Amino acid sequence: MTTFQIKNLSKIYGSDESKVVALDNVSLMIPKNRFLVILGESGSGKSTLLNMIGCMDKPTSGKILFEGQDLTQLSKAQMTEFRKNKIGFVFQSYNLLPDLSALENVEFSTELVSKSKNEAEQALAAVGLKDRITHFPGELSGGEQQRVSIARAIAKKPEILLCDEPTGALDFETGIKILEVLKEIQSATENTVIFITHNKEIAKIADTVIRLRSGKILSIEENLSPLAPTEVEW
Ligand SMILES: Nc1ncnc2c1ncn2[C@@H]1O[C@H](COP(=O)(O)OP(=O)(O)O)[C@@H](O)[C@H]1O
Ligand SMILES: [Mg+2]
Repeated sequence: MTTFQIKNLSKIYGSDESKVVALDNVSLMIPKNRFLVILGESGSGKSTLLNMIGCMDKPTSGKILFEGQDLTQLSKAQMTEFRKNKIGFVFQSYNLLPDLSALENVEFSTELVSKSKNEAEQALAAVGLKDRITHFPGELSGGEQQRVSIARAIAKKPEILLCDEPTGALDFETGIKILEVLKEIQSATENTVIFITHNKEIAKIADTVIRLRSGKILSIEENLSPLAPTEVEW
């Protein structure tokens, strides 16, 4: 089963002298139930690609089909609806609200879709923060805050989880743990995770590794025996 089919996608920012070709004729198929890593140096177009897939922005040309529907034809309101129903986002900056507890931060976002406290608690348990739900962001480490932001993204059980360098601000060991948690969640839910990084080590856990350079796809590698996630001890 395919989720996304990306066809001849280009994104050009600005015009004339200030023109930047951020994506240059990218074509790609993204199957369901996959942990996909997009690898590339800073400025290679990773975030631009992820933002198009997540319906945050529109391309200059090309198509993105999601289960046959062309996302590039959606109205602003339909794009919002698509994000709400299908997508979870995790960013490098955790974007937690400082005056809300871990639980309230997760509930706050799930409110859009459902009002279940249970779902928020389950999501926090899934990232190993069961005992921290009443803590405020200021009382949590960077890795813990990122886990809250992952819980927030997964609480609504999105079909697609988009992660834009979520480990970028963390030390290597904590970063690997975050990755293991995401991998575990992906295996358990059979959803699609797309994970951006510039760290080659991280790519070892992926089912598929896509390398981007200067807005173009350099290679797509299927990893036949990705490293299985190990049980995470926090
Ligand atoms: N909103 C924007 N306006 C102008 N240029 C942009 C904008 N966003 C990204 N770019 C440019 O597009 C290129 C790709 O950026 P980006 O997708 O953020 O790369 P990456 O995530 O791989 O670091 C870069 O040259 C960047 O400066
Ligand atoms: Mg980026």
